[in-house]
Amino acid sequence: MHFNRCNRPPYRNLPEVNGSPFMASSVYYKNYLELDTLLNAQHPESEKAGKPAHDEMLFIIVHQTYELWFKQILHELNSIRHLFSQQAINDNAPDMQVAVHRLKRVAAILQVLVHQIDVLETMTPLDFLDFRDLLRPASGFQSYQFKIIEAVLGLKFEQRFEQNYYVSHLRPEELEQVRQAERQPSLLHLVQLWLERMPFLYQPEWWNDYHPVAPGNEAGNFWTDYRWLYQQSLSAEEQNNLEFFDEVLLRGSSAPGRLTPAASRSALFIMLYRDFPMLQLPFQLINTLLDLDELMALWRYRHLNMVQRMIGSRIGTGGSSGKHYLKGALERHYIFSAFAELTTFLIERSRLPQLPLQLQQALGYSFERRAP
Ligand code: HEM
Repeated sequence: MHFNRCNRPPYRNLPEVNGSPFMASSVYYKNYLELDTLLNAQHPESEKAGKPAHDEMLFIIVHQTYELWFKQILHELNSIRHLFSQQAINDNAPDMQVAVHRLKRVAAILQVLVHQIDVLETMTPLDFLDFRDLLRPASGFQSYQFKIIEAVLGLKFEQRFEQNYYVSHLRPEELEQVRQAERQPSLLHLVQLWLERMPFLYQPEWWNDYHPVAPGNEAGNFWTDYRWLYQQSLSAEEQNNLEFFDEVLLRGSSAPGRLTPAASRSALFIMLYRDFPMLQLPFQLINTLLDLDELMALWRYRHLNMVQRMIGSRIGTGGSSGKHYLKGALERHYIFSAFAELTTFLIERSRLPQLPLQLQQALGYSFERRAP
């Protein structure tokens, strides 16, 4: 007899159950998706209060959809963190491909989340007022999954704007989940460790012997020479950028969100020489992290505008200053800005130092042409 991939006989051979060609034990759409649970999870407060407000169903479903996508985002981010937690990411194995692919999926989901605000904005402020007061003190503040996403990406507690708002608004069980995410190595931290282990740079004196020298005194090691070229590219008003260059790439800073100098140097090198095939994926990785920051900020901005439109200057149902809090979070909650900052130190492609031949070959992808 023929069996399909799941080792089940094809439907035409199945006995009929209550007139249906499906076996009671076979996978069935409604059960697989647990639609009974999902479609019975909307209980508008306005109905409970005996004053049904039509738009509350939309409000609930939009929020639930967000939370489902948040769950998917965490699923992706945790798998990427797992890949980056290995001793060494194998660049010849699918690891890097998978990590970049999944990060791009997170970016695609965030795009959907930004656009989903359009749907909620079809609710007018007056429609919202029909049930808004019934929601107090619940608020988006209590979206612990959102806070976990921020923590998993790399937002530290001390970087949070008005930290105590969320601490005081979550119940102990959810607060502990956020705390736990904050204690684990974040994606930012793991990417930093990966950058510090940059392969290819097997000539330590060429890569590491980095010390500022007087202009013109080229030292024959990469970063000293690069610093000199960078200095040449600065206008008179920009000369103090050199101080910033040394802080980021040589001395380091303990400010939250900053990368170590070793990681900053690798990331800048990847940005500069990304045309080499071996640096393409690492470049895409860094670029996608910047996309995530931008999309999160875009979401915050759209959410803030929606809030302003819905409630003006009134305080939020969660009791915060409403738009003032949201503006602060928008400005302060960038996670990968250390990568964006590195673009300050780019110079024109045509002026880049030429890499040693051995390194060019290691970064390249070329076959010797055989004589026919
Ligand atoms: C009518 C629509 C909405 C209004 C008027 C609104 C209003 C607010 C306000 C005023 C805050 C600040 C905290 C407070 O005092 O409550 C807030 C925070 C928040 N809201 Fe909304 N919101 C709306 C829709 C949404 C939706 C659809 C989501 C999707 C999950 C969402 C997620 C959040 C999150 C995650 C925060 C915390 C943001 C942060 O801490 O940076 N909100 N919201």
